Amino acid sequence: MAVPTWLWTLSATMTLTLISLVHGNSEGDALYTLKKSLTDPDNVLQSWDPNLVNPCTWFHITCDLQNRVTRLDLGNSNLSGHLVPELGKLEHLQYLELYKNNIQGTIPAELGNLKSLISLDLYNNNISGTIPPSFGKLKSLVFLRLNDNRLTGRIPKELVGMSSLKVVDVSTNDLCGTIPTSGPFEHIPLNNFENNPRLEGPELLGLASYDTNCS
Ligand SMILES: *[C@@H]1O[C@H](CO)[C@@H](O)[C@H](O)[C@H]1NC(C)=O
Ligand SMILES: *[C@@H]1O[C@H](CO)[C@@H](O)[C@H](O)[C@H]1NC(C)=O
Repeated sequence: MAVPTWLWTLSATMTLTLISLVHGNSEGDALYTLKKSLTDPDNVLQSWDPNLVNPCTWFHITCDLQNRVTRLDLGNSNLSGHLVPELGKLEHLQYLELYKNNIQGTIPAELGNLKSLISLDLYNNNISGTIPPSFGKLKSLVFLRLNDNRLTGRIPKELVGMSSLKVVDVSTNDLCGTIPTSGPFEHIPLNNFENNPRLEGPELLGLASYDTNCS
C-alpha cells in the first residue's frame, strides 16, 4: 500500500523540527545559560531570546553560514556576574570578547574546549582564581588578554605548547611563580607580565627564588 504524500511531508517536517529542537539550539542554550548568569543593567542582552531556532539573530553574536556561533562581542557592556562552563560547547567560536566589564568568579576550565578560538579577551574585569591549564589545548589561539583582573597562581606550564599564540597580556593581576620563556613566550615583552608583585621572571635569568613565593 502506498504511503500518501501528505504523510511523508508531515513526518519530514516533524523530523526537521525535532532536529532543530534537539540539535539546532544547543549553542543558544549555552549562551542563554551565560545570560542568566550575568547581571545586565544596560539590557544589552535583551535580544537573546531562547525560543528562536538559533542565536544567530541575537545582538552581539555572529554565526557562520552553517549557523554556528563564531563571535561573541560583549566588550565594554557594563556586565557583572559569572562566566559559565557551557561556553565550552561553542566549538566554532573564534572570538570571545568580554573585556571591560565587571565579571567576577573564575575562568571555567571548559574554555579549553574551544578549539577554534583565535582571541580570548577577558581583560579589565574582576576575575579571580587561576589560569586553567586546559588553555594548553587552544591550538588556534593567537590573542590571550587576561590583564587587569585578580588572577592568582602560576602561569600554567601547559601554555608554552600553544603553537599559534602571538599576544599574551597578564599584567596587573596577582600571579606568582616564574614567567615562562619557551615556545610563544620567547617573544612576549616583559611589560605584559608587570604588576604581579609575586611573579618572578624570567626563568632564563636564573633567579634563585623560583616557586618559593607561590604557596
Ligand atoms: C552600569 O550599570 C550601573 C548599574 O549597575 C549603572 O548605574 C551605570 O550607569 C551603568 N553605566 C553605564 C556606562 O551604562
Ligand atoms: C570584585 O569582586 C569582589 C568579590 O569577589 C568584590 O568584593 C569587589 O567589590 C569587586 N570589585 C568591584 C570593583 O566590583
